[in-house]
Amino acid sequence: MEEKKPKIYLSDIHLENYTEQYEEKQATVENAVFMGGRKTESLNGQWNYAVDQYDTCLRQKWFKERYVDAQGFTLPVDYSFDEWPVMNLPVCWNVVRPEYIIYDGSMVFTRRFSFQGAGDEEVFLRIGAANYICRVFLNGEYVGMHRGGSTPAFFRITEYLKNENRIIIAVDSTRRPEQVPTENTDWFNYGGIYREIELVRVPKTHIKDFGIALVPDGTYSRIQVKVRLSAPVNAVATVYIEELGVKQELQVTEGVGECVLDTSKWDKPEREQSVSEQPLVLWTTETPKLYNVIVSCLTDKVSDRVGFREIKVERGEILLNGKKLFLQGISCHEDSVKNGKALTEEERIENIRLAKELGCNFMRIAHYPHHENMAKLADEIGMLLWEEIPVYWAIQFEREKTYRDAENQLRELITRDRNRASVIIWSVGNENADTDERLSFMSRLAECAHKEDGTRPVSAACLVDSEKNKNADRLADYLDIIGINEYCGWYTPDFEKLPQLLKNSNPDKPVIITEFGADALKGYHGTLEDKGTEEYQAYVYERQIETLRGISYIKGMTPWILYDFRCPRRTAAIQKYYNRKGLLSEDKSYKKPAFEVLKKFYGDIKAAQSAGSFIRCGLQKE
Ligand code: GCU
Repeated sequence: MEEKKPKIYLSDIHLENYTEQYEEKQATVENAVFMGGRKTESLNGQWNYAVDQYDTCLRQKWFKERYVDAQGFTLPVDYSFDEWPVMNLPVCWNVVRPEYIIYDGSMVFTRRFSFQGAGDEEVFLRIGAANYICRVFLNGEYVGMHRGGSTPAFFRITEYLKNENRIIIAVDSTRRPEQVPTENTDWFNYGGIYREIELVRVPKTHIKDFGIALVPDGTYSRIQVKVRLSAPVNAVATVYIEELGVKQELQVTEGVGECVLDTSKWDKPEREQSVSEQPLVLWTTETPKLYNVIVSCLTDKVSDRVGFREIKVERGEILLNGKKLFLQGISCHEDSVKNGKALTEEERIENIRLAKELGCNFMRIAHYPHHENMAKLADEIGMLLWEEIPVYWAIQFEREKTYRDAENQLRELITRDRNRASVIIWSVGNENADTDERLSFMSRLAECAHKEDGTRPVSAACLVDSEKNKNADRLADYLDIIGINEYCGWYTPDFEKLPQLLKNSNPDKPVIITEFGADALKGYHGTLEDKGTEEYQAYVYERQIETLRGISYIKGMTPWILYDFRCPRRTAAIQKYYNRKGLLSEDKSYKKPAFEVLKKFYGDIKAAQSAGSFIRCGLQKE
């Protein structure tokens, strides 16, 4: 029998697998709480912090705050929480100090806060987003961890709370091959707690999830409502749509309840619910009508501002409320020269306004979930959105834990944004090589998206098979809409191949050209042969549009990209660590000529549509 090794005391400096103890209590979508209409107590603001390159906080368990040992001996500690410098959260640490600009690794954030007793309520800590792993400690106890850099994390902290509290959040932005995304992406890996940090008090039995949407059955009059409680109890919930004066009860059984409000019956004498005569006004990008909806159950009450619209794919068309759509789009990262990924509300509004100025009705907000307010603003302003999880490039498709990470991010995104009328497509990834493992991984994700939400089409940005010069991606069979990234005129030399590529790829589903474009440095001029010039970028747009407009199965496009964005892979003289495919400069102060090329095309479509001649892409009669 193998001799048991003597167990010797190893101080933390010898610990190899020090993070294992922090793998348990992972916060997932199961922890989520419906937030609409809830009061929260903000923990934004000044936090003390330290750069913790070697994860000493986790190794030495700083959160235990042990200053003397059992014999009363004063221990020399390697931290002084209250004397650390302060950082104003939420923020991306890269933009806080010049020496942090390219820091990938761990930082520890801490603050004190007072809390007046929760009574018989539950208290959750919600972190809007922290990139990539965050570990939470409260009053000396390990609360839990969250993995995923762009979706909210919820931690139930009721039993850890005191009147005076010390919270510590260790954030690790390290890029790793097994993560989603991996260590290699074409965007900047901002680190930190970069979206809101808040406490939310909820009744012991509360509304965890609430979904409301038009039933996609072509009647535009039946509204499905789903409620899920935090406990498997029986109860009656009430749904109230204020402006319509509709009040409907729904039975909740073992914590789950759903019903359908049938607006077509509303003007009938035998009303089942008290209603006014108001007809339901459907949400569109021109008429972004929103209704206040209130849901109450037991002692909980939540609300949301909801637009009712139907999005579906039928016979090769994308239909919004039954009307054929051509998605005049543009791609957009969540990136700001001044704020990194922590855009201000003004910056989000500016991005949507610029897209509107371009003539867009659609934005591909890539390659990860943006701030929830992007979809709320799009609901208010009237902009359709493609939302995406960062299953990007060479993910470890064979690794089950990586799949669970990706699926959790997808479900956290859908749970967060399911009531947003502007969100019309869930994308399960971008530009992944078509291998068997990848097909299994991403078809599972597509199936998960359909199961989580039967009211929206699912897509992904697929890679073109340059050998066969066609989109032969097997994932297309599992998608409702096929995204195609093609860079004819930039990464591949000839435009001549593009018509053949599109002819070879003739799918029976609608296609969105999710990326085409070219780099151009603001103010860099040359001939149509000079790549990287404004002239060449405009030429690529002209040639691309000239070809794409004639392909009837193309139902939209989101050229790459609205504005230049920070990117560590881009070191050429015209790039200087920026991807320059933007139609605007990185600070959005300068429009390149290609902006006008795309704007003209979208304007032509609008003119043709109003003249009744535009039926399909390409301004051609059917
Ligand atoms: C790819 C990728 C983008 C990238 C772009 C580029 O298609 O999806 O994330 O930025 O090409 O090369 O500029």
